[in-house]
Amino acid sequence: MSAPNSSYDPVEVTPLHPEEVDRMRAEALAAITAANDLGELKEVRLAHAGDRSPLALANREIGALPPTARKEAGQRVGTARRDVSDALKRREADLEAERDARVLVEEAVDVTLPWDRTPRGGRHPVTTIADRMADIFVGMGFEVVEGPEIEAEWFNFDALNFLPDHPARAMQDTFYVADDEGGESGRLLRTHTSPVQVRALLDRELPVYVVAPGKTFRTDELDATHTPVFHQLEGLVVDRGITMAHLRGAMDAFVAGMFGAGLATRFRASYFPFTEPSGEVDMQCFVCRGASVGDPDAPCRTCSSEGWIELGGCGLVNPRVLRAAGVDPDVYSGWAFGVGVERTLMFSQGIADMRDMVEGDVRFTRAYGMEI
Ligand code: DAH
Repeated sequence: MSAPNSSYDPVEVTPLHPEEVDRMRAEALAAITAANDLGELKEVRLAHAGDRSPLALANREIGALPPTARKEAGQRVGTARRDVSDALKRREADLEAERDARVLVEEAVDVTLPWDRTPRGGRHPVTTIADRMADIFVGMGFEVVEGPEIEAEWFNFDALNFLPDHPARAMQDTFYVADDEGGESGRLLRTHTSPVQVRALLDRELPVYVVAPGKTFRTDELDATHTPVFHQLEGLVVDRGITMAHLRGAMDAFVAGMFGAGLATRFRASYFPFTEPSGEVDMQCFVCRGASVGDPDAPCRTCSSEGWIELGGCGLVNPRVLRAAGVDPDVYSGWAFGVGVERTLMFSQGIADMRDMVEGDVRFTRAYGMEI
């Protein structure tokens, strides 16, 4: 064990000499004055007031002095450090004021300039309503699927039980795609979204619960009630034990989701080659709720005072379609529906002319805002 150091001989502690402390202080103050912006000042603060700055290091040396010399050295270093810290504060306040003044000038807005009259676009209401329609089925656990717009004739017609000479094929005015020589290519612009039914069945495992929104094409002239390019939403369920009652329940849920609770639906018999039995599904008019029927004093423009609005076609999937898609109709059955998106938008929003939806005038689109 060593003995107490009674013969203590104080060492020279250079950094604590008055001239040294003055020099460190002067260097710090000069650097502070030279800092031109807050970034530079931050670096100066680190170099001259940080833990490893010369004055901080000098401060640590005080303990090495003989007790009698500590007080004076402590005061000297303390005063220098306070001076530096005061100078930092003042310089920081000055630089902040300078920055604020500059920002005010640089970011000034000239409110007297004429405004930019280029109108901003909006999501097209056909897109918006198609999303809303599909979303109701997504909420019931359906998947959204898509198919190609240029489609094989087989998917668009043959697999859907349109026989080659069946008049139903001619009922849909079809744009055929020519091959390179101008001959038949076996491809067409799909006339409906129903071919996606067959694609969905071929692509995925059973059971299948899908909706397919998409663009469809027919050789119609554009006028107030026709457009050659339009949209449909197709629905398809194939599972064990599916009946018309499931279809009816899904249609009721769809109408409630789109137009609110309490509106009745009804089926009318119809014909489509790919469903058997086939129907048209109507919903009670959401505007007059039937009150306009037989009341000439209160006509309803939405349902033409019929009390009902036609939604689209539907039915139980024809077993021949299931077979074409490799599904055993003795084990599985299904329902399908197809509704026109433009039609739904027109009667739900009171749009009278189809051309408003296709001409691309932003004043029409913007009126629908950015719902969804
Ligand atoms: N594809 C039919 C059309 O465009 C609409 C349709 C009717 C679709 C009945 C269906 C359905 O899925 O079951 O006219």
